[in-house]
Amino acid sequence: MAELNANLHLPGNDSIELPVKQGTAGPDVIDISKLGSKGYFTFDPGFLATASCESAITFIDGGKGILLHRGYPIDQLAKESNYLEVCYALLFGELPTKEQYQKFTQTVREHTMVNEQLVSFFRGFRRDAHPMAIMCGVTGALSAFYHDSLDVANPRHREVAAYRLVAKMPTIAAMSYKYSIGQPFVYPDNSLSYAGNFLKMMFSVPAEEYVVNPVVERAMDRIFTLHADHEQNASTSTVRLAGSSGANPFACIAAGIASLWGPAHGGANEACLTMLEEIGSVDRIDEYVAKAKDKADPFRLMGFGHRVYKNFDPRATVMRETCHEVLKELNIQDPLLDVAMKLEDIALNDPYFIEKKLYPNVDFYSGIIMKAIGIPTSMFTVIFALSRTVGWVSHWIEMLEQPGHKIGRPRQLYTGAEKRDYININER
Ligand code: SDX
Repeated sequence: MAELNANLHLPGNDSIELPVKQGTAGPDVIDISKLGSKGYFTFDPGFLATASCESAITFIDGGKGILLHRGYPIDQLAKESNYLEVCYALLFGELPTKEQYQKFTQTVREHTMVNEQLVSFFRGFRRDAHPMAIMCGVTGALSAFYHDSLDVANPRHREVAAYRLVAKMPTIAAMSYKYSIGQPFVYPDNSLSYAGNFLKMMFSVPAEEYVVNPVVERAMDRIFTLHADHEQNASTSTVRLAGSSGANPFACIAAGIASLWGPAHGGANEACLTMLEEIGSVDRIDEYVAKAKDKADPFRLMGFGHRVYKNFDPRATVMRETCHEVLKELNIQDPLLDVAMKLEDIALNDPYFIEKKLYPNVDFYSGIIMKAIGIPTSMFTVIFALSRTVGWVSHWIEMLEQPGHKIGRPRQLYTGAEKRDYININER
């Protein structure tokens, strides 16, 4: 491939030639690492036009609404694959053979239980603690239990940590829920699918028989798949930055959970359902759309807009279909769906949203499906974190495997006080 260069003209009739790197798809990148030698930094708060790394895991074309995991389109994976198979592809780069899939799922099954001591860790939380607060705390605490997989330079330790995290997140998530409603924890049942096991740990009680509903099981697995990874979003970038210092995998994933919790990111599904409930009926939509357009009003339509997608989020398209399937098959008439459909219709035809390219994102329909299958609103972002753990771990491993990877340490544009001498308090 011919060597490409960008020529940057600098003040004082100076200039610098910067190499241009090309990937498999998407925009080329200008390698600005030499710019420091000319006494300049680049400036890009929010990283709107900054590639922080090289990655082969996920590709997004925001203009075309394309999302690929290891090259496979998300709609095909959501409809024809399953979450654990997608986990394998994200972690190891290829879809598994039957034998590899069998071995992978068996290994995950063998790690679904958590150390019994963790039960007392939960007891330290108030019963009304938000499950995301519990998830942050308990996940970070896993490093206190698993000393045998903390050497991040050891590929085997990284692999064991990956299995443990993918396998244990459903157990910890379900425990967070059970603790918040005062019900006993339910142990994993390895005879069930990944999604079925999660549903049983969430909704079964010792006093009664629990049978997994196949419609709900399929919808749950699809929700996991649709949230598995998404390139260098805020929480994944957090995990990469934490991991770049050599921090242990459990601490890195806990940092990712904390970042995901924000309403502008993974917290949007909970915020979206709260918004739909606040709107309450179709005839109040115009009032909220006006608020969303009002610059003086901080209100935003949760579940709309995306930093990268300036087209329909392909996950929202699959989520929308799943939403209708689940509500129909469970025979649920949810007025919130009417509000959501009307809101979507208005937003897609309103000049403000069209001009700003604000389309429904992954969080817009997921909340309605999760409510339909009985997941409480406070658990929506927990489900997102559970699903995204495999993406976070895949990026963490990819970063550590990158030859010559360095600790992430951005610079800044300093706008503070110039150097000045200390003044004793008696003279101030
Ligand atoms: C996720 O990055 C990822 O990949 C994330 C994610 C993943 O899988 O990891 O896809 C998951 O986080 C999805 C996004 C969930 N968040 C929400 O639904 C919250 C509502 N959306 C917004 O807060 C916003 O759209 C963001 C945060 C998602 C994106 O914000 P940007 O890219 O920083 O864009 P911006 O805030 O600069 O908005 C551009 C313009 C602004 O108007 P102007 O200042 O140009 O006049 O669009 C407006 C905004 O006011 N705008 C909205 C809006 N989102 C943006 N106006 C009303 N409602 C909204 N939802």
